[in-house]
Amino acid sequence: MIKIFVTRKIPESGLQKLRSAGFDVSISSKERPLTKKELIKEFAKNSYEAVLTLLTDQIDNEVVDAMKKSGIKAISQFAVGFNNIDVEYAQKKGIIVMNTPASSSEEVAEHTTALMMSLNMNILPMDTFVRKGKYKGWDPQLLRGPSLKGKTLGIIGVGNIGQYTAKIAHCGLNMHIIYFDLHQNKKIEMALNGVRKESVEDVLKEADIISLHVPLNEHTHHLINKENIKLMKKTALLINTSRGAVIDEAVLVSALKEKRIRGAALDVFEHEPKLAKGLSKLDNVILTPHIGSATKINREEMAHISTQNLIHFFNGEHLDNKIN
Ligand code: GLV
Repeated sequence: MIKIFVTRKIPESGLQKLRSAGFDVSISSKERPLTKKELIKEFAKNSYEAVLTLLTDQIDNEVVDAMKKSGIKAISQFAVGFNNIDVEYAQKKGIIVMNTPASSSEEVAEHTTALMMSLNMNILPMDTFVRKGKYKGWDPQLLRGPSLKGKTLGIIGVGNIGQYTAKIAHCGLNMHIIYFDLHQNKKIEMALNGVRKESVEDVLKEADIISLHVPLNEHTHHLINKENIKLMKKTALLINTSRGAVIDEAVLVSALKEKRIRGAALDVFEHEPKLAKGLSKLDNVILTPHIGSATKINREEMAHISTQNLIHFFNGEHLDNKIN
């Protein structure tokens, strides 16, 4: 029987799928991510042929070495992002890495839109205003905010999530779309009148709202940094539902503190679950706990794709979601 280790409980439907396919499935009993030490110990003690990982598992070269010794041939990541895995090293060791790219797009785009709308309309301060008994009756002058209609949304990275976010913003909110991506996106240009900019900096200069949808890697680490954050409009909003370290979080805290930009909404953090010093004290931010893709249906979908990846692998079938 092929032995598979699952680093943390995922929806039962996925586990059942593996069992029905004849795999022997062991699941970590901890209700938290395993530490690097615990992962290495698990692989040193047991022989496995594959592992199902989460984005909270740090799979560096030492963990990959331990996996290799255990007998692991495939890693299936229960996520779209895979910056937690040293994919190159896994490849060197002959271990295949797969992910769930067909999941999460609509969900994360919805969450991005919710953050953008809430931030723009000051929903959190308005809620506090009412709860504190400050609302004394309707007043035409009361707390007038800006509208999104006609504003420019700058999307950095137009994969599935960026593209879907652009569609909601243009078709649903009448926003203009500009974007930066290494590749031209004809769909965005033809269907949404989107305009590709030459650089991240051009997007930062021109957009009223900037939304980040890039994977985290050595090219996108601190993509928003001390130098280029200065290019953003004073009225601009920054939304991040990708990976925290795409923004230099300490730099963002300073910019927000000094009101050099109007606000930010973050679903992801540079050193998750820790927040940069001062971030939680600011009233021009919205913070959510990395739940962009956290709908019931999408978690089931992620379980389905990540387990199907392993079944395809051991059946010697074509691997749609192979990264390396
Ligand atoms: C979530 O952040 C994912 O990468 O799937």
